[in-house]
Amino acid sequence: MAVTVRPKLDAQKQRADFPIFEQLIHGKPLSFLDSAASSQKPRQVLDAMQRFYETSYANVHRGVYELAERATAGYEGARETVGRFLNAPSPREVVFTRNATEAINLVAYAWGLNNLGPGDLVLVTELEHHSNFVPWQYVARRTGADFRMLPLDDEGQLRLDALDELAGSSRVKVVAAGMVSNSLGSVNPVEKLSAWAHDRGAIMVCDAAQGAPHRVVDVQALGADFVAVTAHKLCGPSGIGALWGRMELLEEMEPFNLGGHMISRVTVEDTSWGEVPAKFEAGTQAIAEAVGFGAAVDYITEIGLDAIEQHEHELAAYALDRLAELPWVKTYGPPAKHRAGIVSFNVENIHPHDVAQILDGEGVAIRAGHHCCQPLMTKLGVAATNRASFYLYTVTDEIDRLVAGLHKVRKILS
Ligand SMILES: Cc1ncc(COP(=O)(O)O)c(C=O)c1O
Repeated sequence: MAVTVRPKLDAQKQRADFPIFEQLIHGKPLSFLDSAASSQKPRQVLDAMQRFYETSYANVHRGVYELAERATAGYEGARETVGRFLNAPSPREVVFTRNATEAINLVAYAWGLNNLGPGDLVLVTELEHHSNFVPWQYVARRTGADFRMLPLDDEGQLRLDALDELAGSSRVKVVAAGMVSNSLGSVNPVEKLSAWAHDRGAIMVCDAAQGAPHRVVDVQALGADFVAVTAHKLCGPSGIGALWGRMELLEEMEPFNLGGHMISRVTVEDTSWGEVPAKFEAGTQAIAEAVGFGAAVDYITEIGLDAIEQHEHELAAYALDRLAELPWVKTYGPPAKHRAGIVSFNVENIHPHDVAQILDGEGVAIRAGHHCCQPLMTKLGVAATNRASFYLYTVTDEIDRLVAGLHKVRKILS
């Protein structure tokens, strides 16, 4: 049998696609180690958006003139691209949203408010981003449902062995979990959680905001009922994300936003809703951003998600090794083989913000804070961490500059 071996990702070559790296920051080359917060954008995406604005822009779905038809084809073409990227059974199951946060809020409100009540249980995890934690906590409180958190082990992996005891005899209605932790980089066993959720009669909501940039997201293989993604973390523009949902669930749900485009018929007595996905896309959408989202998906698909994942494993392993040389640095999370390209750490006795500020002077951009994961910070026993995160354009030299910068931090502040 012929085996196709994909070439290894050449980050130095990819980097040339990103104009942001052409400048100096504080007189130094940019070492951008904050891609988990938002990735940089390649020319291919910037050009696709500019071309669309210059040649094809109009509002979508409404006009019968040439430009409106081109714009609609661009917008709906992007939906098909995102649908293929997620292996969605139908592009109609892809709803464009502002970001992953809005996608999850859509499910929490439009599904949760009508399906949760006293005696029901909503289960999230201890490492969830607030986007997949707070909406569920809020809707559980509004509906009288219980809200619990699946704990982590000391390596930062989810304790699946605790599921049955945690749920007890409750009616589990929702299991909500991220695919990849934005703080620890750990990759969560979503397929196993989906199987457990379905055994208990619950729906599975997967936050793939941090998964989709780094590894293949196949909604059918994940077995989830809803999957949220966001374009700006995978080389696309900000202002657009997507919710994939099972058609039967989307069809029975109430709308989330109300107004233009999402209706079928409006009279003073009543309004009926449009078909999915229009029912969830009220008002003028982020049209050029959708086109940019599609271009970003094409860009990372062409490189190959497997190659990106492998590259990030190597960078995570390299960063963990280099940081292990510094006895005054503590890292958090699982071994490299179980994580995407994200490494959280703290420098002994130095506040993360001070670390990040001194590194900035060296042209090294990292994140400092709670990373929208306060329950996880509580588990780690810290208020904040530093976080270095990598992507397809990250090279090991940037990690070396991080380590050199940390020596400088210690020299200045210890
Ligand atoms: C794991 C995870 N979920 C959700 C989000 C929210 O994404 P957005 O801000 O695009 O809605 C983020 C962003 O940092 C994230 O890392």
